[in-house]
Amino acid sequence: MLSVRSTPDGRLRAAVVLGTRPEAVKLAPVLRALDDSPLFAPVLINTGQHREMLDRMLRRLGLTVSHDLAVMRERQELSALTARLIAGIGELIREERPDLVMVQGDTSSTLCGALAAFYEHVPVAHVEAGLRSGVLDDPFPEELNRRLVSRMTRWHFAPTPRAAAALTAEAVPTEDVMVTGNTVIDNLLWARDRADGRSAFRTGRRGLLVTLHRRENQGPRMRALADTLLRLADRPDVEVLVPLHRSPAVRDVLLPALGGHPRITLTEPLDYFDFIATLAACTLVLTDSGGVQEEAPSFDKPVLVLRDTTERPEAVRAGAARLAGTGPAAVHAAATALLDDPVLYRRMAAAPNPFGDGHAAERILDTLAHDFGRVPDRARSLDMLAAG
Ligand code: UD1
Ligand code: UDP
Repeated sequence: MLSVRSTPDGRLRAAVVLGTRPEAVKLAPVLRALDDSPLFAPVLINTGQHREMLDRMLRRLGLTVSHDLAVMRERQELSALTARLIAGIGELIREERPDLVMVQGDTSSTLCGALAAFYEHVPVAHVEAGLRSGVLDDPFPEELNRRLVSRMTRWHFAPTPRAAAALTAEAVPTEDVMVTGNTVIDNLLWARDRADGRSAFRTGRRGLLVTLHRRENQGPRMRALADTLLRLADRPDVEVLVPLHRSPAVRDVLLPALGGHPRITLTEPLDYFDFIATLAACTLVLTDSGGVQEEAPSFDKPVLVLRDTTERPEAVRAGAARLAGTGPAAVHAAATALLDDPVLYRRMAAAPNPFGDGHAAERILDTLAHDFGRVPDRARSLDMLAAG
């Protein structure tokens, strides 16, 4: 049995650490479930690794922050960011003395949340565990982050059977791994019930929704991808929409390259509900985002993944996504094929979403409640998803 500090009313104190936009989206369902549960008292630690993009997301998702470390600096370097995160989170864990620390995914906030918890002897729950590209520096630094987090984690909540298998292949005990589905789907279903978003496309042309931000795509690769988008926008039947990430490394390249083209729309990051409405309205998604490629198949939208590796081959195997690479010719050919071949388009659009069933947060809470001795039965792993 785990040692329990708990609150005076007997609830378990769950510190949830997040710092970026996708962590807020993917932890929101768990935070709502923790709030609703009589067994848990959640403490939301916002590291502030992101600022405007995250604050707006937290507001829109109705999440209340307990602590804000405000670590973000313009053009932050990974080493300095890591130092601020580990010191700040460590101090809060000592102050709050939670029964567990929950982190999600593979950002710097994720790694430092887990490491600070480990240093304070607090068990770690990792949501979206087991994603692996197999290449240590791609995505950079996320592949290293997620591998390191798995070494410090007590509960590994894997979104798919493939992710669970990756963990057991690294000698993580099977009983510490639970296949839950991805919480991104829980949140999508929650948001769909509140659908008050508006599409950001300005015309009735076929919409290409593009997001780009990954560090390994910054610099020359992003310039080449921008040229490819310009070539695609030469088609009179399309509108290319690019909600720009706040990172200056992204804006320095995309704003001068794409601004001013009559069939390219550049916007600030979209409000989450507007983004979902835009996904629903588009024809095709081109992205290097993890979350976006998990969401798009729920709207029957084919995804071209603008990366050379993937830790989400489930979408490719299901037929919903294609790893298009970052080379201009390959990306242009892949997009053109989808725009011009209705059979290919329909096949990809019809592929199922392999990432979850919308009940991931329930499985996570049931497992934690059982392991802290609060309920007799442990949640059952999600076995309906085809092994990836
Ligand atoms: C981070 C994560 C990445 C995740 C992405 C989600 C790391 C190392 N990377 O990448 O895994 O996919 O978030 O979007 O953790 N900025 C702002 N305002 C904001 C957010 C960012 O101005 O609200 C600018 C700042 O200048 C900041 C820069 O963007 O220094 C980069 O932010 P950072 O969190 O370091 O990296 P991302 O590329 O956003
Ligand atoms: N998103 C959003 N507005 C945008 C672009 C994306 O709300 O303009 C949401 C999207 O729905 C998804 C998440 O942000 O849930 C993905 O975040 P991001 O691409 O920054 O990070 P990644 O998933 O690649 O880590």
